Amino acid sequence: MPSQSETSNSQTRPSTQDTTQYQHLIVEAGIRPGVGLIQLNRPKALNALNTPLMEELRAVLAQWDDDPTIRCVVLTGNERAFAAGADIREMADQSAISMYLRDQFRTWDAVRRFRKPLLACVRGYALGGGLELALLCDMIFAGESAKFGCPEIKLGIIPGAGATQWLPRLLGKQRAMELILTGEIVSAKEMAQWGILNRIAPDDTVLDLTLNVAETIAQQAPIAVLAAKEAIQHAYETFLTEGILVERKVFFLLFASEDQKEGMQAFLEKRKPQWQGS
Ligand code: CAA
Repeated sequence: MPSQSETSNSQTRPSTQDTTQYQHLIVEAGIRPGVGLIQLNRPKALNALNTPLMEELRAVLAQWDDDPTIRCVVLTGNERAFAAGADIREMADQSAISMYLRDQFRTWDAVRRFRKPLLACVRGYALGGGLELALLCDMIFAGESAKFGCPEIKLGIIPGAGATQWLPRLLGKQRAMELILTGEIVSAKEMAQWGILNRIAPDDTVLDLTLNVAETIAQQAPIAVLAAKEAIQHAYETFLTEGILVERKVFFLLFASEDQKEGMQAFLEKRKPQWQGS
């Protein structure tokens, strides 16, 4: 959780710990006036986004969408990782049909549909689904240690939670191709130069900075804030839905390939994958 210095602000109110028990999240409503904080909390797995975590995230956001005391939400991880992607352990043995049936991205859709401003505060890794989760937020603030990338290609798959659609829109085709086809990890500084981050700050102050911005938003006229978010989202999303569906179908299809099995098994066994092209 944020340290004393990270949350120090003359207007900081005592936070109210949500009484609901979450296994994979730490949730504080009212960490600042009108601001809710959600911390992804699977530190041993670098906050890999498994189904129970995403279900909890969906539940908190649904609750806060209906809560007039929450006007802006900050989503963060810990110093080592915002999130290192969807949970590879959970996906490694899936088939194309089981992936299609379980449709893990329904919970991602719920994040995208959250009506109030959602600010990502990224420290450490934001990879694969972790980057995609940050991209679903309305702003991204990054600590100097933040590292971004789409390493799915190294697992024999492609991004499945929107990156093939978001990144060309946000970065242009060429940089999106580079990130997705090489799987390389890029620094916060580089991502900022590419125009995708709101601001970078030292790791120990970036959460405070994000909460300050959230607090400013929370002080604005609540209905106008909702309307502004809705209008801006439309600027990006009018032609997005079809692209998301195409990405999802080919993502599920890749679970019919030997290379997906090999790529994920190799990750879990900490060795280099041997690609068969089948
Ligand atoms: N899923 C499941 N477990 C993960 C994980 C993930 N995405 N990322 C890290 N972990 C686990 C590791 O398995 C490891 O667990 P054990 O201690 O039980 O072995 C633990 O977190 C710590 O990870 P490392 O030991 O690998 O830590 P590191 O500092 O050496 O490396 C890393 C850090 C470069 C981020 C490396 O963990 C890594 O490459 N992670 C996978 C990143 C990735 O491929 N993400 C994409 C996932 S697929 C996806 O997201 C699809 C989509 O579009 C939705």
